[in-house]
Amino acid sequence: MSLAGQRIVVIGGTSGIGFAVAEAALSEGSAVAVASSNPQNVEAATARLPGAEGFVLDVTDEGAVERAFAGLGRFDHLAFTAGDWGGPRRGLLMDLDLDAGRAIFNVRFWGAAAVAKHAAKAIAPAGSITLTDGMIAHRPAKGSSLSTAMAGAVEHLTRGLAAELAPIRVNCVCPGMIRTGVWDSIPADVREARITQMTARQPLARIGEPKEAAEAYLYLMRGGYTTGQVLRVDGGGSLV
Ligand SMILES: NC(=O)c1ccc[n+]([C@@H]2O[C@H](COP(=O)([O-])OP(=O)(O)OC[C@H]3O[C@@H](n4cnc5c(N)ncnc54)[C@H](OP(=O)(O)O)[C@@H]3O)[C@@H](O)[C@H]2O)c1
Repeated sequence: MSLAGQRIVVIGGTSGIGFAVAEAALSEGSAVAVASSNPQNVEAATARLPGAEGFVLDVTDEGAVERAFAGLGRFDHLAFTAGDWGGPRRGLLMDLDLDAGRAIFNVRFWGAAAVAKHAAKAIAPAGSITLTDGMIAHRPAKGSSLSTAMAGAVEHLTRGLAAELAPIRVNCVCPGMIRTGVWDSIPADVREARITQMTARQPLARIGEPKEAAEAYLYLMRGGYTTGQVLRVDGGGSLV
C-alpha cells in the first residue's frame, strides 16, 4: 500500500524518531502534520519539513487533545512518538517518591491513551495508530522498575486498542538505542565510547539511526493486515 496522498499525523514529530517519521512520510508523498508541546520546536520542525503542517499540543492535557483532533478533520495514520525526559526516571523503587514516579506515565502512556481516544474518531477506517515504547520493557535494569512497567503498559495498551478500535489498526514500535538528541545528555567527550560500549553485544553492534526506526512506523502504516503487534527495532539487542 502506498502512503502517497495519505494524511499522516505525528505526535512528537518535532524531533528525533518522530521527525524522521515525518520526513520519511513526506518523501513518500504523504500530507504530514507534526505536533508537540513547545511552540518553538513546532516552528523549527516545520521550517525543516517543507510542506508539513505543525500544531502545538501538550498530550498531558486531555481537553487540548480533544480540541486538536476535533479541529483536524479526517486523516489516515497517526504515529505517537512523544516522550519527555524530565523528572526522576531512574531509581530503586524503595527510594522513589511515588507521586514523582507516577509522572513517568504521563506523556508516554496517558498521553498515548488520550491521543488514541480522541484521534480514533478522526482516523479513516482503513487507517492506523502506531504507538512507541522502548526496549526497557524487555531489558529491565535496577532502578528502571517504573519505566519498565510503563513501557510494557504501552505494549498492552496497543493490544487492547487493536481489539477495541478495529478496523483501525493499532501497533507499536519498540526502539532500542536510536541516535536522537536524548543521548546528548552524555558529555560529548565520552558519548561515542559509551554508545560503543552499550551496543557492543548486539548482533548489529552500533546505535540505530532515526530513519531506520522510521521505516518501522511506515511499514506498520502500510501493513493492512497487521494489528496489535510490537515491532522491535533494536539491532538484535533483544537476542543477547
Ligand atoms: N532514542 C532512543 O534511543 C529511544 C530508545 C527507546 C525508546 N525511545 C522512545 O521513543 C520515543 C521518541 O524518542 P526520541 O528519542 O525521538 O525523543 P525526542 O527526540 O526527545 O522526541 C520526543 C518528542 O516528544 C515531544 N513531547 C515531549 N513532551 C510532550 C508533550 N507533553 N506533549 C506532546 N509532545 C511532547 C517533544 O517535543 P516538545 O518538547 O516540543 O513537546 C519531541 O518532539 C520516546 O517515547 C522514547 O522513550 C527512544
